[in-house]
Amino acid sequence: MKRHIKIISVVGARPNFMKIAPVHRAFLKHSKAVTHLICHTGQHYDERMSKIFFKDLELPEPDFYLGAGSGSHAEQTAKIMIEFEKIVIAEKPDLVIVAGDVNSTIACSLVAVKLGIKVAHIEAGLRSFDRTMPEEINRILTDSISDYLFVTEESGIINLEKEGVSKEKIFFVGNVMIDSLVHFLPKTEQSGIMKEFGLQKNEYCLITLHRPSNVDSQEFLRELIDVMNELAAKLKLVFPVHPRTMKNIEASGLAKHLNPNLLLTEPAGYIDFLTLIKNAGLIITDSGGIQEESTYLGVQCITVRENTERPVTVKLGTNQLIGTDLQKVKAAALEIINGKKKEGSVPPLWDGHTAERIADLLMGAEVDNEEGRR
Ligand code: UD1
Repeated sequence: MKRHIKIISVVGARPNFMKIAPVHRAFLKHSKAVTHLICHTGQHYDERMSKIFFKDLELPEPDFYLGAGSGSHAEQTAKIMIEFEKIVIAEKPDLVIVAGDVNSTIACSLVAVKLGIKVAHIEAGLRSFDRTMPEEINRILTDSISDYLFVTEESGIINLEKEGVSKEKIFFVGNVMIDSLVHFLPKTEQSGIMKEFGLQKNEYCLITLHRPSNVDSQEFLRELIDVMNELAAKLKLVFPVHPRTMKNIEASGLAKHLNPNLLLTEPAGYIDFLTLIKNAGLIITDSGGIQEESTYLGVQCITVRENTERPVTVKLGTNQLIGTDLQKVKAAALEIINGKKKEGSVPPLWDGHTAERIADLLMGAEVDNEEGRR
């Protein structure tokens, strides 16, 4: 890199914050050569879905806040695009960094590329091969317009090559979310969440479910409550509930029939949630990130989905892809409770140093958009 460059990293929804925090730390080490700015689209805006993560992850206040908020997919994506375009035109960054697969990811990469600004996509190449998932559409589109594709696992390289992406754009760097986990793990010793919830290590099941394909169905929610009540006869269950899921549970009136061993709580902050993952005997989830965090920590994980874009967590890790049949989920959970554990290992390059590799690569590359700027 020959001159001082300006980079804008985009965060929008909860899973972005822990991915960009280590990238920001890595660029601080190169502050003479790089100005690293953070743009928060406001896709997630609550204290519990957003603000607490800035505090926990020691992120500075964002340099730009777009206030996009909720809405239909088109409304949300469009609002983010309109506001982000103004920022990019005013700031003329050399590079825009986006992470993951949320609406903010595709919205901002599309704006940048049309203004001739290079885009780096962190967590590129993951594919569930399920185009009914909005995240899958966001992944495919973002990858197809990005200049730097930073890949977390081998499947990502294979998928991108099959889609005809040139090898020069693909960089197998590892997993930035694991960087955050490694960095903040010592802080979990200070979390009071285990005591607050009256939990003992390995003696509870952690649950998170928020995918529209699961929680927007009343039938699924009704059966879920039944299955959770049955499991609660065996061990404590802790379920930090995503706003989407909470709205649907409240609307259904199902929350009245809960076993006292089943604890429904508000979404947890980053450090408290890591503490809950680390100490869980078992996790039941439909999240992408938690499949990876549990694999790194060697915690048993049941994924309530028909597919995963993170196959390494099943191939090498402690994750089991069970599907959305809740009777099968219950059976798999009971096996684990009765001692049948899946052995796992940590995937290559999930070592806590991915963001440094990304920063070094970008510093070494020519991220100069002089010609492309408008
Ligand atoms: C989004 C991402 C998903 C990610 C998830 C993590 C997309 C397409 N989906 O889904 O990939 O796994 O975030 O949380 O980008 N809400 C609040 N407060 C908030 C944020 C949202 O109450 O701070 C409510 C919204 O009003 C809406 C619901 O939660 O009703 C869903 O929010 P939205 O951002 O649309 O999608 P998620 O389901 O969170």
